Amino acid sequence: FAVTILSYLGLGPAFGMAAVPTAVIQKYEGSMLSFITGVLGGDLQTMAGGPLFLLLNKYFLENGPIFNLSFGPKSFLVISDPVMAKHILRTAPADQYCKGMLADILEPIMGKGLIPADPATWKVRRRAVVPAFHKRWLKRMITLFNERAEILCDDLTRKEGTVIDMEERFCSVTLDIIGKAVFDYDFGSVTKESPIIKAVYRVLREAEHRSSSFIPYWNLPYADQWMGGQVEFRTDMTMLDDILAKLINRAVSTRSELTVEELEDRDNAEDPSLLRFLVDMRGEDVSSTVLRDDLMTMLIAGHETTAAMLTWTLFELAQGEPGMFEEIQNEVRTVLKDKDRPDYDDVVAMKKLRYALIEGLRLYPEPPVLIRRARTEDILPQGSSVMKDGIKVLRGTDIFVSTWNLHRSPELWENPLTFDPTRWERSFKNPNVKGWAGYDPDKVSGLYPSENAADFAFMPFGGGSRKCVGDQFAMLEAAVTFSVIIKNFNFEFEGSPEDVGMQTGATIHTMNGLRMRQTRVKKDDPLPSTDGWWEKQHLKRGLSSNG
Ligand code: HEM
Repeated sequence: FAVTILSYLGLGPAFGMAAVPTAVIQKYEGSMLSFITGVLGGDLQTMAGGPLFLLLNKYFLENGPIFNLSFGPKSFLVISDPVMAKHILRTAPADQYCKGMLADILEPIMGKGLIPADPATWKVRRRAVVPAFHKRWLKRMITLFNERAEILCDDLTRKEGTVIDMEERFCSVTLDIIGKAVFDYDFGSVTKESPIIKAVYRVLREAEHRSSSFIPYWNLPYADQWMGGQVEFRTDMTMLDDILAKLINRAVSTRSELTVEELEDRDNAEDPSLLRFLVDMRGEDVSSTVLRDDLMTMLIAGHETTAAMLTWTLFELAQGEPGMFEEIQNEVRTVLKDKDRPDYDDVVAMKKLRYALIEGLRLYPEPPVLIRRARTEDILPQGSSVMKDGIKVLRGTDIFVSTWNLHRSPELWENPLTFDPTRWERSFKNPNVKGWAGYDPDKVSGLYPSENAADFAFMPFGGGSRKCVGDQFAMLEAAVTFSVIIKNFNFEFEGSPEDVGMQTGATIHTMNGLRMRQTRVKKDDPLPSTDGWWEKQHLKRGLSSNG
């Protein structure tokens, strides 16, 4: 009995048991919530055969682009419609929707950092942080990306022919990059292990566990003194906070206040980190904890997300049709020729590579679900749902905007489950989805097709005011790292792609690692044959398609 009650409340995981809540689904019809369409018992994760977002995908395919899901005392409006998503993320006033339960979950780690920040705090912090990501800085970061990609290459060369977990390697390289970029700290995780690196990973895992729990077990009285994982979490957080405090103090002790323009012009050879920029920014309150909170947020937000993009892109390319991987590799080798280090213009020139990476983010969006809470009552536009009018959203409603569902919707994409980087060169429109402009390749500007090009059917970095601040950084980092790796190596699965498996928290991980064998590409190896795969793909699909 105790087990049932605890599990129902979602406390199972805290006590080492599986959660066994009962889910209730309600579908919308004629702008009203219909009767209950499904009562589902059992472990939600097992029922879906895996992570929660897969369960939401199953319900989406059965119930349409908007439904209500309740388990235990919690209830969520699940949205998989581009018109409604655009309204919530962009069209509605910036303070209409907040991060809701996500803020509660992340607060102990990120404080009032940009991701969980309430609208008032966010407004001030976003204005402070955005200038730090200026174009000259981004270009400068390319040197860092190249240095770290080379360290990874050396490591892969040493281990040539052995089985290597590429997911773990990508996580290490992106951790090292973000450490240097955010606070000029070298984790050195590609080449060594340390208690600090372990603490970073344990904190990330705890954050992910919290975001998939139904009840805040970490808020139980004195949880950090008696609950195994929570005691460890507190110790880890103390360790990370100490390091951050030291780094901030060091930067503050050598502060030279400058205007944003002066900071952008400064060619700071010594330390180009975001910490240095923010500390030296005139008017910034360096004693404030929000500086710590923003740095911690960027460490967490900018690390496994990029690693996941690299992991899943390699996973898909390695099992693609003959010629697909070779198309990307040939482009890289042709653009770079004898150069070892790609620069900004090379990244721009490697379009097939960028489209492969962005296709990776389409099939494996990070995070797979965006979380919001309505701060006041609102009416959602009709979108593609069957309703007569818009839907009323009551104050306090918790909302999941499922990026996973949008990115894989049969209404919004041709062959949605196929990894096909060529799709980004073809338009797609479905007149049945009312109010949706479709995907238009002519609207792609910059390094990747953004949420605007696909009118919110694709949101690799979110959209609207809370859109990712690190999108350009991440695209450049991923393009440089991936191009250097595939210029120099070919990859083969150890075992089969099915062995890789999938699990999630805030980002989508493999279950068993991306275990591969790599062989070095020699400089004078001829370019492999693609048999015109890219062009053939266009001919097969037609240069534009309509649903
Ligand atoms: C926000 C994705 C890399 C920092 C977001 C959001 C998404 C996202 C979807 C919006 C969340 C929401 O609306 O609730 C990604 C992906 C990345 C990536 C897929 C890599 C492939 C980075 C990097 C950084 C970063 C490298 C920092 C260096 C942030 C921050 C926010 C954010 C600070 C909060 C923005 C705000 O609320 O104003 N990211 N991100 N991200 N991301 Fe990223």
